Amino acid sequence: MSNLFQAPKGTYDIVPPFSTLWLAVKQALATPAMLSGYGYIETPLFEDTGLFVRGVGESTDVVSKEMYTFEDKGGRSLTLRPEGTAGVLRAILENRLDRGALPAKVWYTGPNFRYEQPQSGRYRQHTQVGVEAIGSADPALDAEVVWMAIHAQRNLLGLTQVRLLINSLGCHECRPAYRVLLTNFLDALELDEATRNRAQINPLRVLDDKRPHVQEMLVDAPLMPDHLCEACATHHEKVLSYLDALGVQYEKAPRLVRGLDYYVRTTFELIHDGLGAQSAIGGGGRYDGLIETLGGSALPGVGFGLGVDRTCLAVQAEGIELPNTNATQVFVIALGESANTIAVELVGKLRTAGISTDMSFDSRSIKAAMKGADRCGARFAIIIGDDEVAAATVVLKNLESGEQESLPIDLCTQTLLKALPAASQTPKE
Ligand code: HAM
Repeated sequence: MSNLFQAPKGTYDIVPPFSTLWLAVKQALATPAMLSGYGYIETPLFEDTGLFVRGVGESTDVVSKEMYTFEDKGGRSLTLRPEGTAGVLRAILENRLDRGALPAKVWYTGPNFRYEQPQSGRYRQHTQVGVEAIGSADPALDAEVVWMAIHAQRNLLGLTQVRLLINSLGCHECRPAYRVLLTNFLDALELDEATRNRAQINPLRVLDDKRPHVQEMLVDAPLMPDHLCEACATHHEKVLSYLDALGVQYEKAPRLVRGLDYYVRTTFELIHDGLGAQSAIGGGGRYDGLIETLGGSALPGVGFGLGVDRTCLAVQAEGIELPNTNATQVFVIALGESANTIAVELVGKLRTAGISTDMSFDSRSIKAAMKGADRCGARFAIIIGDDEVAAATVVLKNLESGEQESLPIDLCTQTLLKALPAASQTPKE
């Protein structure tokens, strides 16, 4: 079997039973956006390469090292999206959502592609759930976005080891002066060549260096929150006070710098302490000025991206069992040729009534069919043999208690709707 193909390096398949967790996590991460007035948006998986170069920033690792860029047959340079924000903003401008009621608020989910060195929690294709809200500089919008990110992780998924780190990176007014201060400070240090190069591209990134000996040298480094202009300082205080009002616990992280260039003012990251090196399960912040860079008007914006892959790892690391709302509830077994059509018809009726139902195929023996019922975790089995066909009945067996009864087939749906919890039934038309 050695000639079987494998998923490309740094990618993996989402298959059952893991895919149940995957869907539940995606659903939980998207729920706060649906509770907060965000509309759904979907954009192409590939975009004009220039969009990411301009939108994400040429100096970032994402653009300089990690993009999947190719020329199509028409000679266009295209890139598989490495992140969601640039494409979503492009779509907002192209579809003139920026001309309607503001803020324009959207949420999205889908895969992103980065040519990274794969390891646990770091992949070449990863999936995010994200939001973008544009057209308002109100700090209450920053707080809304931060609340959505953490509410999903802490309250809907029940993760207890998530920390919310928050910082302000200042704005185009106050950051340049701070940058000079920091550059002067870094120039006086004995940094290795790679770090010196990083400092030249973006000195703020050096603050994020995790190596203890570098952190030691940076103890007295000037920090952005101490050098904010008045407007940024007031904005930051308001965001924090709104988070207090929302009961959101956070840690001030004056050295937090994110890997993408577009952030100003509020920046935040969600860290899960059970994940080792790839501990960031989400991040985001404000990007006032980015829309202008992309050719739009001077609209402010704020958003986040939550990593679905890493959040699944976090749920597993904490041993959390999420309820499977789509689990099969009823398993129908036909014994003999004459029962097959009746079984098929009954399965159709039960599914139409919103009851999650499966059946045994290929005329299995009762023993093999009952094994199938057990394996899928059904609460009830319905057995139809020749006697039942003749009497227009079924045998309804409760697989938890082992009790069974004979029931007219016409009463099946009604009886099961009463016996099963409402959550297991999908909404009826
Ligand atoms: P980001 O921090 O690059 O931000 O990615 C967001 C999240 O996606 C990360 O915190 C992480 O959980 C997950 N992630 C990123 N790269 C990988 C990878 N190689 N493997 C697995 N998971 C990964 C953004 O992408 C911004 N667009 C977020 C944003 C939206 N900011 C404002 N609006």
